[in-house]
Parts: sequence; C-alpha cells; structure tokens
Amino acid sequence: MSEAHTTEAALRFDDRVAIVTGAGRGLGRTYALELAKRGAKVVVNDLGGSKSGGDDGSASPADEVVAIIKEMGGDAVASYDSVSTAEGGEAIVQAALDAFGRVDVLVNNAGILRDKSFLKMEPEHWQAVLDVHLSGAYYVTRPAFSKMKEQGYGRIVMTTSAAGLYGNFGQANYAAAKMGLVGLMNVLAIEGGRYDIKVNTVAPVAASRLTEGLFPPDIVEKMAPEYVAPLVIFLCSSRCPESGGIYNAGMGAFNRAAVVTGSWKSLGTKDAPPTPEAIRDLFQPLRALDSRDEYPDAMAAVSGAMGAVPLEKSTKKKEKSGGDGPALTPETVAGLFEKMTEIFQPGPAKGLSVVFQYSITGECGGEWIVAVEDGTLRIEKGKADNPTTTLIMADEVFAAITTRQMSAMAAYSQKKLVIKGDLMKSQLIEKLFKF
Ligand code: NAI
Repeated sequence: MSEAHTTEAALRFDDRVAIVTGAGRGLGRTYALELAKRGAKVVVNDLGGSKSGGDDGSASPADEVVAIIKEMGGDAVASYDSVSTAEGGEAIVQAALDAFGRVDVLVNNAGILRDKSFLKMEPEHWQAVLDVHLSGAYYVTRPAFSKMKEQGYGRIVMTTSAAGLYGNFGQANYAAAKMGLVGLMNVLAIEGGRYDIKVNTVAPVAASRLTEGLFPPDIVEKMAPEYVAPLVIFLCSSRCPESGGIYNAGMGAFNRAAVVTGSWKSLGTKDAPPTPEAIRDLFQPLRALDSRDEYPDAMAAVSGAMGAVPLEKSTKKKEKSGGDGPALTPETVAGLFEKMTEIFQPGPAKGLSVVFQYSITGECGGEWIVAVEDGTLRIEKGKADNPTTTLIMADEVFAAITTRQMSAMAAYSQKKLVIKGDLMKSQLIEKLFKF
C-alpha cells in the first residue's frame, strides 16, 4: 500500500490482535495481510466455502493466508469456524484469546450470496444469507465486544453493501442483512462509546468472486481489494476518531453515507390530528430533505419531533406571567447554577470523576465549571484545564433546559447545544441532577 500521501507516522498495530472473518479470499484476505504487515497479530477466519456457502468448505484459504503472513515475519493463526452459529462465533474469538490473549480489532467481513428475484427467494435462500451476514456478525461481535469492554478498547468494522444502502434487483435477502448490520452498528457505537469501542461500517466495491462477471474486464484491475483496504485499516486503527459512520469505498474512491432527516413539518393541533389530505397537500415540502440533520441516536430524533411541535405548555406559562416573562439577567444564570447544587444527586455520583465545562454565550453568559468527584459537587465560575465534556449554549437555552422548558436532547438535535469532548459523559448530567 502506497504511503505517498502519509502526513505523519504510519498507522501501526504492534501489540494489537485482529480478527478478520472471511479472510481466506477477496477483501478479507487483503485486510488480514495489511493488518499483519502493520504489526497486528491476526486470526484469519475462513470456513473456505463456495460463493453460495453451500458446501462443507476447506481449510486451505485460511491456511494460505496464515502461511503468507508467517513468511513475511508476521504472526497469525487460522480459524475454520463458521460465523453463522453462536458456537462458531465463540470459537473464533477464543482462537484469538488462546493464541494472543486479547482482541483489539474485529472486521466482520465473511459473506455469501444467494441471489433470486423476490418471489423465487425461498426461505432457505433468505435464511442462509441472514445467518452468515447479520447473525454471523452478532455471533462473533458479542464475545469480542465483551473482551473489548473489559480492556477498555476496541475497533469493530461491519461490512454493508450498496445493495443494502441503495437497493439492488435480486438481492432482497442480502440487502436486508446488510442494512441490519447498519442497525447493529448504530447501537454498538452508542453502547461501546464509554469503553473506547468504535464501530464503523464499510460498503466496499471490489472485484472478487462475489462480483465475478459484474464489471467490464478493463476496470476490474482498479477494483482490487487493495483500493478498499486503506479505509478499513484506518477505521481499525487507534487513530480513528469516528464511531457509527458508514463509508463507501472502491477503486480508490471514498465517501461517507448517512441517514439524514429533513426539517420537521408540524401539522394539526393538539386537539385535532392532521388529515391524510393535509399530508397530501404538503407532501412535496414534507419529503424535501431541506435541512439534512443527522441524529446521534433515536432519542435525539424523537426530541427533534417534540421540538417541532408548538409548545402549548410554555405559551400558556408566558400568558400567565404576562408576555415574555422576566428578562434573563447574569444573576438569573448564576442562580440557575446555584440551583444545580440543590438538585444534585450524590447517589449516582458515587465513584464518578467528571468535569463539565459550561460555556454560556450571550449577554448573561460566562464560563462555569461543574465538577463531580466521588459523590461531591463543585460549581464555580471559570475555565477548567482539562474538562471531560464542554457544553456550549446560549444563555436563554441554558435557562430553558434548567427550567425544563426544553429538553437537552431537543436543544442538541436543533444544534442549540454543542457538545465537545466525551459525548457519552454528557448523558450523565440527566442522572446527576433532578431538573
Ligand atoms: P469473497 O467470496 O471473495 O470472500 C468472502 C469469504 O468469506 C470467503 O472466503 C468465504 O469462504 C468466507 N465465508 C463465507 N461464509 C463464511 C462463514 N459462514 N464463516 C466464515 N467465513 C465465511 O467475497 P468478497 O467480495 O471479498 O466479500 C467480502 C465482504 O464484502 C462480504 O461481506 C460481501 O458481502 C461484502 N461486499 C463485497 C462487495 C464487492 O464488491 N466485492 C460489495 C459489497 C459488499
């Protein structure tokens, strides 16, 4: 792999242990070789089956890759278990633990095809593909994730496909499994966040036996797995900053794919839900992806919808207090920080050590430190040296969140609250304070 565009030290995997499933051929083989070249100890898993996965398989593809790695002076072991059973998944991870004592990297790559147009797709075609791609990733990832959590470090790459992301004739089973992997990644990226387990997904395009005959011979050369592998290697590295990302990669071209959401259009009222005719009349603006928001999780998406609904509660409050209510002053903001000491929950704070930096913008803003150290709380004006998480928001947004007129999730999804540093730790705030 060319280092021509390298701007800093090479990405190395010394002392790291990687599992690559389906590594006897095609893309997986290339990932395994490249990881080994860069110092990783590799479990080369492959049951050596046919393209449709329908035979008994053979040990030779995995053995060949292990032999090449050893010839290069690297370290690798072969694993011939199928990813498609819970026992197989356990055995693959156990092979890494037996040989090398840990698991830092897992590339869920093994795959088969059973293409049929939908009505010809019998349950066995459906099940076989789901078993290898989707259940296979679950069976291998679960024991690996457990070890990664224990270690406080892990990198997992799922393999999706353009067929899943965008659709392809004759691949209902494969597309469903491949999009299932995106869902699995979304959840693992959230659950792994606090243990430095980063989970991303690649949608490769490469010439292999799975794509035989699909592409004209003159471009097949540029379609070598080596033109996909650099992205996967980066996602497997300790330098990868991303979790929960989907990347297309093929022929040396790369981009990110994402689920984006248009701005919410609120119809109907609290007392009268909208009619289907109202949807019909507003269908074009409703389907327009005007704002293209990305949500970090399902709660943020739900909060986004809530944020779009006219807040009758707060309107009524304003009416009662006569107009816009009392103006915000620096004293009100200071008072709200003071109030946080009253609503602090020492129970959930036991054993925790976190420093939240509140950067409040606007006329009544300022810098505030909210530090929690094993059950005790310290709130003071100023800037912390090395905060765990920094929360940046306008004075009125801070006031709205602390007085429960707006949820933090809604503020975040509407980009009124910006969170820097450890995003997962910011979720502790809701537990530490009873707003
Ligand atoms: P390949 O057929 O060359 O390699 C897949 C390997 O997985 C084979 O060596 C096979 O023996 C192994 N395998 C199959 N079932 C297994 C099981 N149950 N347990 C362990 N190993 C098993 O295919 P290729 O193209 O390298 O595909 C790798 C991954 O990339 C697959 O998940 C595929 O769906 C995905 N992909 C490939 C694309 C391409 O353009 N080649 C496009 C989109 C996705």
